[in-house]
Amino acid sequence: MSANELRKKFLEFFKSRGHAIVLSSSLLPDDPSVLLTTAGMQQFKKYYTGEADPMRDFKYKNTASIQKCFRTSDIDEVGDERHNTFFEMLGNFSFGGYFKKEAISYGKDFFDSIGLEIEYVTVFAGDKNVPFDEESFNFWENLGIRDIRKCGREDNFWGPTGAEGPCGPTTEIYINGVEVWNIVFNEFYQLKDGTLEKLKTPGVDTGMGLERLAMVSQGKRNIFETDLFLPILDILPGTISERQRRIISDHLRASAFLLSDGVSPSNKEAGYILRRLLRRALVYEYINFLNPQIFESAIIEAIKIYGNFYPELKHRRDDIINAYWAEREKFSKTLSRGIKELEKNENITSEKAFSLYETFGLPYEIIKEFSGAKSSSLTRESFDKEFGKHQEKSRAGAAGKFGGHGLLLNTGELKAKDEEELKKVTRLHTATHLLQAALRKILGENVRQMGSDITVERTRFDFSFPRKLTIDEIKKVEDLINEAISRKLKVKMEEMDIEEAKRSGALYFFKEKYPAHVKVYSAGDFSKELCGGPHVKNTQDIGKFVIIKEEASASGVRRIRGKIIP
Ligand code: SER
Repeated sequence: MSANELRKKFLEFFKSRGHAIVLSSSLLPDDPSVLLTTAGMQQFKKYYTGEADPMRDFKYKNTASIQKCFRTSDIDEVGDERHNTFFEMLGNFSFGGYFKKEAISYGKDFFDSIGLEIEYVTVFAGDKNVPFDEESFNFWENLGIRDIRKCGREDNFWGPTGAEGPCGPTTEIYINGVEVWNIVFNEFYQLKDGTLEKLKTPGVDTGMGLERLAMVSQGKRNIFETDLFLPILDILPGTISERQRRIISDHLRASAFLLSDGVSPSNKEAGYILRRLLRRALVYEYINFLNPQIFESAIIEAIKIYGNFYPELKHRRDDIINAYWAEREKFSKTLSRGIKELEKNENITSEKAFSLYETFGLPYEIIKEFSGAKSSSLTRESFDKEFGKHQEKSRAGAAGKFGGHGLLLNTGELKAKDEEELKKVTRLHTATHLLQAALRKILGENVRQMGSDITVERTRFDFSFPRKLTIDEIKKVEDLINEAISRKLKVKMEEMDIEEAKRSGALYFFKEKYPAHVKVYSAGDFSKELCGGPHVKNTQDIGKFVIIKEEASASGVRRIRGKIIP
């Protein structure tokens, strides 16, 4: 069956069995515990915990979805027969509607309905904390499955790593030696420290990778031979290695999806992942002397394959292509200079590699690819460690002197590549201080900064607050900020010891590590914050500020986006 048919069959199967069909959520999750959406269950977390009511939101206790997912854990493995980054996850979910018996028979019936035979299944063998899943074992046996294997926690227990969330034993279905469907029985809630609490209502969370399902259904040896990948691969010339063709097709496809969800290449978080994908693909364009038009065609092909099911790809087609070219342009400028520099060095340590990255934008992959034995001690881990060190420094540091990535300014919170961008982010930065002050005046002193990110277009501010803001509150906050702007308040900077700064009542961001001596910026009597700057001299330089969006960011955390209008 084609991938399109499989999607359709799956949704019809669950729709006719009392499930609400829910659209895929964005690859950029609302949930701050993950960088990107990695599983279908993510958008449903709050129904497992009882924070939200599925009957109210879906009119059913059961849902099914096809979710866009992205896993970074395999990013360096892409190129072999199995690994990919972006994938689609087919899943059915129940929040107190049904449990093991039904979930297991749906598994069996679905494969019967598409003419595939289950080879074997696995169930949780039990350990010191959670007992053997005998029930699941028996249900499979009653359905006539002969080969049931018991496995340990590593294979048959699902839960978030190092984070909070629902979790429990799993049962997995294998066809032709490939794990196709993972069925999780959420019985517990895992706390941050790893302890398990019993969930009030046990739930079902299943996930089946569409690429793998297509592979077994289409009788292919690997996912790249399925109709999801083949048309993209066919665009790439046969003269380059199979491994590179897979990397390029995976990375360009994934990039198209990330771009369609509004991610743009940057040096942080999801933007950094996107940049890595694009640049790694571009490395192969560069070393193989490919015609630059080829990658654009591959991206257009990906949009064609997926655009009907994910219309955001079609809607943002031009943005995606433009962003691709813009990143290519940035990258190619530094690439050739960087490679020359690389060749001058005899031994490439992780520090050296990072400095090449910082100065020339040379990604880890290129450094590895071009330096051969000279970089034998360099690993992705050691490189990432350097990267982490640098991020800490730039967050704690002030404005100015940031040569890296051709940026004029990079404080972690705000970035600008030239004078013009610098002016814009500076105005938004002062506006963000006014925003925090205004929120506290309208909503109370419990409002604290939880995060902030400023780009040329907008400021994004996360803060602690337990509920959605009313339209009236948003309006009041906005008005108060614009009033402060029109009062032409002087923005003043003072330097002092950290303790003195805190005593002075200046706000600070508790997540941040501040040095002993800090700067405090105040805008008249309206706002006062510990901050590295830069800021405008007078609030009237900001212009008119508008709040463009207010939404949840995490439990107890709201997110506001605002911009300056001319
Ligand atoms: N959450 C499980 C997984 O990601 C099943 O959906 O495999």
